[in-house]
Amino acid sequence: MVQDVTVVILAAGLGTRMRSKHAKVLHEAGGRALVEHVVRTALEIAPPERVFVVVGHQADRVRAKLAPYKVQFVEQREQKGTGHALSVCREAIEPLGGLVVLLYGDGPLLEAGTVKKLVEKQTASTDAATLITTVLETPRGYGRIVRDGEGRLLAIVEEKAATPEQLAIREVNPGIYCFRSELLWRHIGEIKPDNPAQEYYLTDMPGILRRAGHSVGILEAEDARQLLAVNTRVELAEVDQVFRDRKRRELMLSGVTIQNPETVVIDMDVQVGRDTVIEPFVRLLGRTVIGEDCRIGSACVIEDSVLEDGAEVFPFSMVSGSYLEAKARVGPFARLRMESRVCEGAHVGNFVEMKKTRLGQHSKAMHLAYLGDSTIGAGANIGAGTITCNFDGQKKHPTKIGDDAFVGSNTTLVAPVEVGAGSYVAAGSVITEPVPPDSLGIARCRQTVKPEWAKRRREQQR
Ligand code: UD1
Ligand code: CA
Repeated sequence: MVQDVTVVILAAGLGTRMRSKHAKVLHEAGGRALVEHVVRTALEIAPPERVFVVVGHQADRVRAKLAPYKVQFVEQREQKGTGHALSVCREAIEPLGGLVVLLYGDGPLLEAGTVKKLVEKQTASTDAATLITTVLETPRGYGRIVRDGEGRLLAIVEEKAATPEQLAIREVNPGIYCFRSELLWRHIGEIKPDNPAQEYYLTDMPGILRRAGHSVGILEAEDARQLLAVNTRVELAEVDQVFRDRKRRELMLSGVTIQNPETVVIDMDVQVGRDTVIEPFVRLLGRTVIGEDCRIGSACVIEDSVLEDGAEVFPFSMVSGSYLEAKARVGPFARLRMESRVCEGAHVGNFVEMKKTRLGQHSKAMHLAYLGDSTIGAGANIGAGTITCNFDGQKKHPTKIGDDAFVGSNTTLVAPVEVGAGSYVAAGSVITEPVPPDSLGIARCRQTVKPEWAKRRREQQR
């Protein structure tokens, strides 16, 4: 935390260039809404009671998205420009004094360290404000930095209002500012909408401060990558790539093997333990936590799930909201969802779906099964083609299978039903009644054999 700093994040715009029904700051990169990244950075600089988010377009949705962060909101009912957006916060933040850091909700890559440097530079100077600049190969879309003969900041010129000479300037305004509160509020009323867009440009502020006899400092950023803003979906994809790359590097440096890393997508909150191997085209999403020595096969999608040490998921499996205990094995081509649990050493094989189902220690369901709303004990064997009929068209019903039970292939378990510990169910049975422990349940027609039948038929057909 830095003393006496208030952070304002502008997030009221629609983001026309996104061509979207959804407010721009709600679009996701790195598995989080753009504005969430900015809020998290802000919270490393100031406590939640000193972080203000200006909302407007889809304000309720933005508020809901940010509710867990306990930050403050100010509503900008009409979007009349970035200068106007800051001025609507006046009542709330002017009494706080100190320094005001202003960030845009569409610049999600910014790291707190950079903002801290900005605040330090401002604190150590007599300048009225300090802002970050950077030099871009293609400065398109950004405000350009105009300096005076001594290299001091003269003004920021918006692209729409720039002369051809100004457009050639490659030093741009990424939109990260630190103002002395008192001078900001003294002069903010001088921003006028006298530009082609008829907006109140916050970027007029440095020029205004200069004209009032103050100086404005510049912090030249070394790493332009963290200053990229999202205005279009092309930039959204670029920013997403930067996040993905950051996350993969962080994991690899902490001891995780990632094969063909550029094909692997990992959300920012995901944790992965040492010596785990992630094969190509894997997606690890949400709040997934993966232990040490695990293996995630090619093209698996793992979402909001926990894998204990040594668990393995073979290629093309989808695991969602589920828990794999140590040394559990799942897949290839398995689907686990809704709080399913594969206990220690248990094995789920190909084309098996588990929903709200617990598979006990060292139990196996190796091929082609649907196990829904089921509790299966330890050491059980679920044969190929076993189906739990858990839904009667209106309600879901549970199936219980005891320890060491053996369910033969192609068994249909009509729930609610129970198969007792140590019992057998004969292959091809339709089980509608409980099977007591240590017994055999058999529920199918007896086989009839008609000797010579085929031979007679062939003779008749001649
Ligand atoms: C802005 C800067 C430009 C800078 C660029 C960096 C201005 C006038 N220009 O341009 O110099 O190079 O960012 O990315 O500031 N917003 C509001 N209320 C409004 C208008 C905007 O909250 O009335 C919010 C938007 O939701 C967005 C942010 O402010 O998060 C920036 O607005 P945007 O329209 O994207 O500004 P740019 O044209 O990119
Ligand atoms: Ca922008």
